[in-house]
Parts: sequence; structure tokens; C-alpha cells
Amino acid sequence: MRPVKSLDKTAPIAENLGGLVGGKGELLLPRDFALRWSHLGSVFVNDEFHNTYIKPDDLAYYRANSKFKDKTVLVKEIRSSNSGRLTTGDAHWGSGVKIWFVMMKDEKGRFKDNPLWGNGWAWALYKGDAPDKQVATDYKKDCLSCHVPAQKTDWVYIDKYPALTAEAPVPVGNSSKAPVSGNSSEAPDTGRGKSLFATSCQGCHSDQKGENGVGPTLFGVYERKSGSVAGYDYSDAMKAASVVWEDVALNKHLASPKGFIPGNYMGDSFPSGVASQSDRSALIDYLKTLK
Ligand code: HEC
Ligand code: HEC
Repeated sequence: MRPVKSLDKTAPIAENLGGLVGGKGELLLPRDFALRWSHLGSVFVNDEFHNTYIKPDDLAYYRANSKFKDKTVLVKEIRSSNSGRLTTGDAHWGSGVKIWFVMMKDEKGRFKDNPLWGNGWAWALYKGDAPDKQVATDYKKDCLSCHVPAQKTDWVYIDKYPALTAEAPVPVGNSSKAPVSGNSSEAPDTGRGKSLFATSCQGCHSDQKGENGVGPTLFGVYERKSGSVAGYDYSDAMKAASVVWEDVALNKHLASPKGFIPGNYMGDSFPSGVASQSDRSALIDYLKTLK
């Protein structure tokens, strides 16, 4: 893809919107999505591929919180297809780009005067032969009516993307810390995790084998099935939950002890949970070492 033109510098840019939005709310086509972003999924429609991309961090956020973070960008690329017989069978594969659709999550109601911002998103359309030229004029006319079937899921056809569900395999590396913290290059920060554990968890949880307190011991919790420590009297909710405590589940439970497994005891005694994503990631890294 050719690089896109730089932003119109005539209007000041009020806040950092990933370098993708001009001062009047012009939403650009991201340049690097094919190289660096995650493939969210594809829908094959009338001989075209509709391929959708999202940044790994924004994907991790959705998987942990079941909603799109402010400023999340989705790019849908429509490619025509070729077909033929391959050694695998009757095959279809993508060819040239016809269109790019771009959406950016907008929780703040930015650019109220721009007819391409509204209903919680910015909306844009680029033709395959002109990646510099946004061509939609009014999202209510050009986009919205077709997205009404997905209104309940924030206007996005989320059920078409299995990668959004927490149960899907984590897409980056096997030190599955990466997508949750969004920082795969750092070594696990267990020192910080240990001290966070001491201040936030230890009042109720031991990190030693066999020691149950107000809560069950968290020794060996990583990849353990929920509600399975012998001798600890779990709530019915926790017993029924059937969750395996890997990164995504731990992240959700710590972000919302009340919401992730409704009715479990930790939701009553520690409802606020751990607000910061980086604290949760550090805690999870520490929990992994308890074995
Ligand atoms: C003809 C109906 C139609 C129109 C017009 C339309 N969309 Fe969509 N759009 C869909 C459908 C259906 C999907 C999901 C399945 C697919 O790709 O076909 C989708 C998917 C998307 C996706 C991928 C995320 C998702 O919701 O699945 C983006 C991004 C997107 N559309 C943006 C836009 C923007 C921006 C506009 C206006 C410029 C627009 N669409 C106009 C029907 C439409
Ligand atoms: C005020 C007490 C309290 C605090 C603080 C607390 N928890 Fe808990 N936690 C519990 C209780 C009680 C349970 C058992 C829930 C049930 O049976 O419904 C539990 C359950 C859990 C479980 C599920 C364990 C299993 O065997 O299925 C995990 C994981 C967990 N807590 C992690 C943490 C972490 C990490 C922290 C610190 C950030 C923390 N908790 C802080 C009380 C607490």
C-alpha cells in the first residue's frame, strides 16, 4: 500500500488519537495494519474476502473486558478473490483490495460537527486505488443502516470474530502475558507482582501450598481449574464456574471480582478488584511463579 499523505496541519490536533485523526476529525487509513496488527477475522461474502484487523493491545482489552476501549481502531479490508483447485481442495484466495472501511471507538463524543462521527464511533471509507482519499460523507447515510443488526454489540458484528472471545487461544507467543500487558519484550515483573500481592491479596490468600485462609491458597493457581483446592469451602458460584485460571480469566477476575463470576465470595469482600492493567499483569506474572 502506498503511504498516506500527512495530516492536514491547518487545524490543531487536540489530543493524541494515534496519529490517525486530523484536527477536524478526518480519520485516516492506518499505514501499518497489515504488518503489525492482529487479524480479527474474515467473512467471505459473494466471492470477496472481508478481512478485519485490530491492534493486539485493543484485542487483548476486548477479550478481558468484553468491550472496545476508547480509540480502538478496526480496519476492514475488502479483497476480491481468485479460485482454483489446490492440493488441499477447491480453494479461494484473496487478490486486489477493493475498499477499506475504518472505525475508531469514540467514548467521548468528539468532533460533534463532523458527520462522520457519531453513535460511539468515527467512520471512514477508502477505495482500494486511493488510500489517501476518504470518500464517505455521512455515517448515518453511508454506514449506519447496514450496521443496525449489530447495534446491540456496539455496532460491530462481534459474533463473526471468534478471536474476540476469551476462550480463543492467545495470539502472541506462549508467554501469554504479552497481549494482556501489551508489552511482550519485558521480562516478567515478578518483584512488583510480589509486593502487589503482599498489599492487595495476602490478607485473604496465602501463596504457600496447603494454606487456606479467608480465600483459598493461590499456590499453583495458574492453569488450575477454579474452585478446586481441597479443603477450601468455595461458594456455589465458584464451584460451578468451570474456569481455568490462565491469563485472560485471571485478568478478568482481578479487574472485576464481582462481574466475572457473579455471586462468588471475593466479589463481596473485594469488589473493587485491581483497577490498573499493569498491576494486574504484574500480579499474574507473580501468580505464575507459585509452583
Ligand atoms: C451494505 C451494508 C454495509 C454498509 C453500507 C457498511 N457496512 Fe460495515 N459491515 C457490514 C457487515 C454486514 C459487516 C460484517 C460482515 C461483513 O464483513 O460482511 C460489516 C463490517 C464492518 C467492519 C468490521 C467490523 C464489524 O463490524 O464487523 C467495519 C470496520 C465496518 N463494517 C465499517 C463500515 C463503515 C465505516 C461504513 C461506512 C463508511 C460501513 N461499514 C458501511 C455492512 C455494511
Ligand atoms: C477480602 C478478601 C480477598 C482479597 C483481598 C482477595 N481475594 Fe481472591 N478470593 C477471596 C475469596 C473469599 C475467594 C473464594 C471465592 C469463592 O469461593 O466464591 C477468592 C478466590 C480467588 C481466586 C479463585 C481461586 C480458585 O481456587 O478458584 C483467585 C484466582 C483469586 N481469588 C485471586 C486473588 C488475587 C490475585 C487477589 C489480590 C489482587 C485477591 N484474590 C484478593 C477473597 C479475597
